[in-house]
Amino acid sequence: MNKNALQEEIKRHNELYYRENTQEITDAEYDMLAKKAGIQTVGTAPDRRFLEVEHIVPMLSLDKAHERDEVEEFLKKLLNVHELEIICEPKIDGLSFSAIYEDGRLVKAATRGDGHYGEDVTKNAATIEGLTKVLPDVKGRLEVRGEVYLRNDDFLKLNKDNQFSNPRNTASGSLRQLDPEITASRPLRYFAYSLIGGAEKTQFEVLNKLKELGFCVNEHQCLAKNVDEMLKFYNRIYDNRHELGYDIDGVVYKINNLELQDRLGSTNKAPRGAIAHKFPAAYGKTKIEKILVQVGRTGQLTPIAQLVPINIGGVVVTRANLYNQDEIERKDVREGDVVVVQRAGDVIPKIVEVDKNARSPNVPKFIFPNTCPECESEVQIEEAAIRCSNEFTCKAQIIEKLKHFVSKEAFDITGFGDKQIEFFYDLGLIRKISDIFALEEKLKNFNLSKQEGWGEKLISNLLNSINSRKTITLDRFISSLGIQYVGPHVAKLLAKHYGSYENWYSADEEELMSIIGVGEKIIDSLISFFSEKDNVEMVKNLASQLKIEPVSANVSNSIFSGKTVVFTGKLLTRERKEAQAEVESLGGIVSSGVSNKTDFFVVGEKPGSKLEKAKKLGVKILTEEKFNKLILGEE
Ligand code: IVH
Repeated sequence: MNKNALQEEIKRHNELYYRENTQEITDAEYDMLAKKAGIQTVGTAPDRRFLEVEHIVPMLSLDKAHERDEVEEFLKKLLNVHELEIICEPKIDGLSFSAIYEDGRLVKAATRGDGHYGEDVTKNAATIEGLTKVLPDVKGRLEVRGEVYLRNDDFLKLNKDNQFSNPRNTASGSLRQLDPEITASRPLRYFAYSLIGGAEKTQFEVLNKLKELGFCVNEHQCLAKNVDEMLKFYNRIYDNRHELGYDIDGVVYKINNLELQDRLGSTNKAPRGAIAHKFPAAYGKTKIEKILVQVGRTGQLTPIAQLVPINIGGVVVTRANLYNQDEIERKDVREGDVVVVQRAGDVIPKIVEVDKNARSPNVPKFIFPNTCPECESEVQIEEAAIRCSNEFTCKAQIIEKLKHFVSKEAFDITGFGDKQIEFFYDLGLIRKISDIFALEEKLKNFNLSKQEGWGEKLISNLLNSINSRKTITLDRFISSLGIQYVGPHVAKLLAKHYGSYENWYSADEEELMSIIGVGEKIIDSLISFFSEKDNVEMVKNLASQLKIEPVSANVSNSIFSGKTVVFTGKLLTRERKEAQAEVESLGGIVSSGVSNKTDFFVVGEKPGSKLEKAKKLGVKILTEEKFNKLILGEE
């Protein structure tokens, strides 16, 4: 490829990575291309769908090192400096953000974009849990930079339908949404690592200051004096990276002294006083024995490659995710192919490349089944997903729903795993969710201890643990139902909003729309779930067997705890959604309509007609100023 073609190719990969939140090649392959072309790029121009934000201090990239000698080279260049102190931090595999505070209020948040202009994602960033919106006692301008990411367990929960490729791309796609509600429904997190506008003299002090201000700062860091100490940190974090729970792709070494960093300046791409020491990618080459098609809880068919087992970076990999039919076609994956497999974090390995030269001639293309491999029902095509249409009688779907129901993130019934579900299903004792709580009754007429492996003790333990879960919190109850897009995070939002099972059960669409973090997709899914009479019956049946407890608010002594609050008009000191979120975080319920159930009515500028109604009903009316004081617990 000539240099121009290479540059075009790199541009295309940049757009895919930064704009579409996807990638066709691995990071390592990208780095090789960039090296070949000798180009220096930082991200890609901001997407025109967003407003632009100019970065007063450019958001640069970092030079990379892969081997010890490259780290030594970096230090050598700085050698005229005595007693160099280097701070080592994990390199979080997410996307960078900048958050600007004026007089202690978050006024703007942006992505990196091309380093000079980023995308305005203020409303989206404001939904990130733990990203402080108010910094008490801070005057003037302060800019905080860091990395937004998704934890691997959150990614797996979010990605039950295999619609996303990896945590980084999902985090990026989630922050760069036009609808902040979608961002709010994704459990994004962040780590802050830089501060512009502070008085700190070292990066170490910056990290401490960020912590003091209430930002999330990564707990791993070390001050090193030489290359051995730096590599000791690198190796330690490399060996333990699987325990972190989120992906990191290397370590960043930075000169601790900020004045020195400043003096060294930067090239047009990267600062001279810092470098990223990247981890080697965990790849392996193996063969696909067979392509299996699994049926998930919501009926989605997922192709999985069964591999000749291979050890990649210390973990034996036997399966890789092929996501969906489009992915198989795009990569042209066939049974018997030799493939490159990548393992990243806890996420199920994926196939990055097919070695087409190793394919024997006449190997047929893989044909995606047009009936459910379990129950042979017709499949339905929904965007990229293909689903079995037989929601209530397909054995695979029923079993997956049951497994989900007893799993740790749902009812968490100890001693009730996948095996037991399959066992009771085959015996005909558990065929629907409510059968779980009727098991004790059913066993009175069934001699289980005759079955292999089931002693009296085991049976009584299992029944005890089922009984112990007959009291359950509302959020767990909701997330256990296996409603598409209603995982633990959304279930918590719903449970907090409605407070009790009865309130939630009689929810209407309008009220659902007023909940921050509950968007159209979720509402459609709830409506379609409850439009099936089998589901309505299942929920009612379950509720009659259980004691469903309201979710306790985290600040029960707040004046808003358990109270219903309605807003009208424009607030001057903050966004309406932010105020609503604060009420909810104090255990209050935000509603859009005034009724005699309303406890507080907050009035902003140009109030609507609701004000008259509130006055008539004698609801307690709060000015914005009064509301702010109550929120802070000052009155
Ligand atoms: S310092 C000049 N510290 O890595 C940029 N960056 O390849 C200095 N990153 O754009 C950033 N963890 O998105 C820094 N602890 C960390 C980091 C980190 C992840 C990202 C960041 C940056 C990219 C550079």
